[in-house]
Amino acid sequence: MLLAISIQYIRRVILLGDNKPSKKIVEMIQAALTTEHQANIQYLSHAEIVDGFDSEPIIAKLKEIADDEKGHQAKLRELLGDYLGEVPTMEIAKTKKAGSVKEILETNLVDEKQAVKDYTAVMEQLKAEKAELPYAFLTAEHTIRHIIMDECEHIAELKKLLAVKP
Ligand SMILES: [Fe+2]
Ligand SMILES: [Fe+2]
Repeated sequence: MLLAISIQYIRRVILLGDNKPSKKIVEMIQAALTTEHQANIQYLSHAEIVDGFDSEPIIAKLKEIADDEKGHQAKLRELLGDYLGEVPTMEIAKTKKAGSVKEILETNLVDEKQAVKDYTAVMEQLKAEKAELPYAFLTAEHTIRHIIMDECEHIAELKKLLAVKP
């Protein structure tokens, strides 16, 4: 524990001493990473229980979104490790079961909307800490903006499959 704290201290003060993220922003990004772990596994698991004669495009879409969530994990790990001097979490948020195709799409739509809300809060917090992140802000802002745009695309895709207006 003490060793872990020391390594963290060295990385922050000596190697990445110019960027000083708050505990709050680090916790928000770590929480987002646990949610990306959940989203990836949830979409992949849900994709395996879809069946029926017109199931193929739905399975393909769920797997495609799962892949995006995996990409988000990589972006957040890089942001945490290379720019904020943190160890990316390996924790996973609680996954949700769903029985029917409609339930799968609705469950993930709720999660995607929550993701946009959470990342928007991360963006606001980042802006508040801009002065403390001279060598991380633009990369962090770009990363979070890109992820929000992807989650919005997921919302549009799920709504289309559910035949719900945008
Ligand atoms: Fe995501
Ligand atoms: Fe998503």
